[in-house]
Amino acid sequence: MIREFGPDETPRPDLRAILDGEIVVIRSGLQRLGVFDRLNDTILAQVGAKIGTEAQAMLRQRGLEKLHEAVPASELKMLLAALTDILRPFAAEIICNFSRCFAPETTNLYGPDHLWVRMMTPAHITQERPGEFDAYPGHLVVHRPHRDSWFSHCHNSVNLWAAVGPVRPDNGVLLYPAAYRMDIPRDGLSVRPDQWLGRPVGFKLDPGDIVCFAGEQVHSSALNVTEETRVAVSARLSLGRPKYGQGTGWIAYVSEAALSRRAPLSGSLPARANMAYLRHLHRRLKRRLAPVRPHDIGADPAATAALREARGEISRQLADLARAILTDEGAPECLDDLAALAQAAGLRMQTRVVRPQELSGDVVAASQSSCFVRMGSQLGVVARHCPHMGADLAVNGALTREGQLECAWHAVRFAMTDGRANCAPLAALTVRPFRWYGDTIAWLEEDTT
Ligand code: FES
Ligand SMILES: [Fe+2]
Repeated sequence: MIREFGPDETPRPDLRAILDGEIVVIRSGLQRLGVFDRLNDTILAQVGAKIGTEAQAMLRQRGLEKLHEAVPASELKMLLAALTDILRPFAAEIICNFSRCFAPETTNLYGPDHLWVRMMTPAHITQERPGEFDAYPGHLVVHRPHRDSWFSHCHNSVNLWAAVGPVRPDNGVLLYPAAYRMDIPRDGLSVRPDQWLGRPVGFKLDPGDIVCFAGEQVHSSALNVTEETRVAVSARLSLGRPKYGQGTGWIAYVSEAALSRRAPLSGSLPARANMAYLRHLHRRLKRRLAPVRPHDIGADPAATAALREARGEISRQLADLARAILTDEGAPECLDDLAALAQAAGLRMQTRVVRPQELSGDVVAASQSSCFVRMGSQLGVVARHCPHMGADLAVNGALTREGQLECAWHAVRFAMTDGRANCAPLAALTVRPFRWYGDTIAWLEEDTT
């Protein structure tokens, strides 16, 4: 499933196999394509121009992974826009060189004239500025798991995801190969929280390494819990004419001839002669004609952050209350008393007759808002939805060897003792207190009805 071409091998990635689900890692790929040094120098020069020569010198000396120490968080959006602009010509070069160096017998490659720039600083930096980077998923903050064709890309696209600085499994791209070709219902631009994806696969990459995968592979990014900024770029290509589906946008995949400016006009015809392009034109027209939308809370980062904070505070208080009731020496002796107490406190009592050894997996659904976590012969009860972006942990949670609960969406890990995340500013997962009444386990949840 994962094929790797080491530094001493001639890479011959099979694009058809990639579109069939194979994942290919090409070590030193950008170097072999002859673009790495120039790309790196262009990034550093742009940091020098936009942030200052001191920042540029520091990054040259200590590496791009120190970007968050050289660039203030308030300048990240501006720098991203400047880099996206200046790195654009590399897209055509990467695609054309890829075809020439790695897939010489393949004809009929298309690709967009755009390079996606991704700078993921340590997560605490963006989380300390709530709402500010919400419009930059996949670039400055993590995306929810998705397929690229749900956005602007064609179905037959291959993502060339390249490390420019070092990439670690806990700050890089995550792929879900078990979900390839699976029929996945969409929830807006994301998979549904209760959709099973299998465990994510991450990569350790050195600067210049490229991971090639089909855009139809469900993918996401690990929440960056390291103290390094992960800098990567991605180019896309399609094998044969681009075939678009029902994405929310459209981007032209043009022929190699058009990318290399040999036939700029005719090369983009296949990308335009389809319904996706017409839908894109229609959307653009509608946007131009639409009146200015009234103020809406989702568009106001400060109001959204305040709402999120208030919700968090209420559930923290309710969890404390539940803990007080169930861990108190005077916890009710019978279920009826517990139910009455819970109701009075605005909580909901849940019960299940269960023997730990009967549970089928490490993490299973216990109720609409809780799940059981089996740790050897011990049982834990935790909130069912991940406090990061709401993935259903009964489906997407797994116990690590170290006994933490890992969420598949962005690989955040939670301690089972107190629910603390391995990324400091992230809200803790609610660990629910519970009590056994014979074979019946009882726990308290927030009453959301
Ligand atoms: S939703 Fe992001 S780690 Fe769980
Ligand atoms: Fe993507």
